[in-house]
Amino acid sequence: MNTVLITGANRGIGLEFVRQYAADGWCVFACCRDPAAARELNEVAAGHADRVSIYPLDVTDHRQIEQLSHTLADEAIDVLINNAGVYPPEHGDVFGKTDYSAWVHTFEVNTMAPLKMAEAFIQQVARSRRKTIITLTSKMGSVADNRGGGSYIYRSSKSAVNNVMKSLSIDLSSRQITAVLLHPGWVRTDMGGPNGLISAQQSVTGMRQVIDTLRFEDSGQFYAYDGQIVPW
Ligand SMILES: NC(=O)c1ccc[n+]([C@@H]2O[C@H](COP(=O)([O-])OP(=O)(O)OC[C@H]3O[C@@H](n4cnc5c(N)ncnc54)[C@H](OP(=O)(O)O)[C@@H]3O)[C@@H](O)[C@H]2O)c1
Repeated sequence: MNTVLITGANRGIGLEFVRQYAADGWCVFACCRDPAAARELNEVAAGHADRVSIYPLDVTDHRQIEQLSHTLADEAIDVLINNAGVYPPEHGDVFGKTDYSAWVHTFEVNTMAPLKMAEAFIQQVARSRRKTIITLTSKMGSVADNRGGGSYIYRSSKSAVNNVMKSLSIDLSSRQITAVLLHPGWVRTDMGGPNGLISAQQSVTGMRQVIDTLRFEDSGQFYAYDGQIVPW
């Protein structure tokens, strides 16, 4: 059976990943900060009790990441999805009003956690069939695509994780592990807001198709949810 581990699985894009992979017969390790408060995730898990399990995980807590890796030590993880992300408060992300402590926190979640997850779960990914690490980034991290300016904190956190994952793809190539960056589109979630162009369902359907058709030669690429390559 295919197995996927998803961070930030309690709402938005992460929850939709859980829904779709569970419906498709995958074994899902769904991670979120507060499982007891994750009503919708618990409902999905109850509908697939044999295959969906929920684990507490704050991705900035490296000890908790290591403990979870220990708990799942004997598993194989086909696809590790670094989905958890934050968007800093808008008022602290404009020139002259930069919230530097929010910047540090955003880097911890958006940039550092994906590498820590890869470090912690490398054995489980390496022993799987698909051997894939996916990190949710954003077109806002594309330097080539930056025509709007501003958003220093969010943009830099995603540009940085792009380079982190590029290096990872090179470092893990000898182990035949595929590491890819995905832009989910502008999605109607708490982060994307109500004006987003697509639903979480459309975004995740597209991203799952991209993931499904990935080949090892695609490692290190930056794709959008519709399969288009995004310029760095
Ligand atoms: N929506 C968009 O238009 C869009 C566009 C480009 C990229 N993205 C990226 O796509 C990913 C998912 O976004 P989304 O729209 O689904 O966002 P969302 O609705 O705001 O959900 C964010 C998820 O990340 C979790 N999270 C935040 N900090 C965490 C931490 N320290 N530890 C563990 N989980 C944490 C949240 O958990 P809590 O409920 O506990 O806070 C929540 O489950 C993010 O990486 C985001 O940057 C989204």
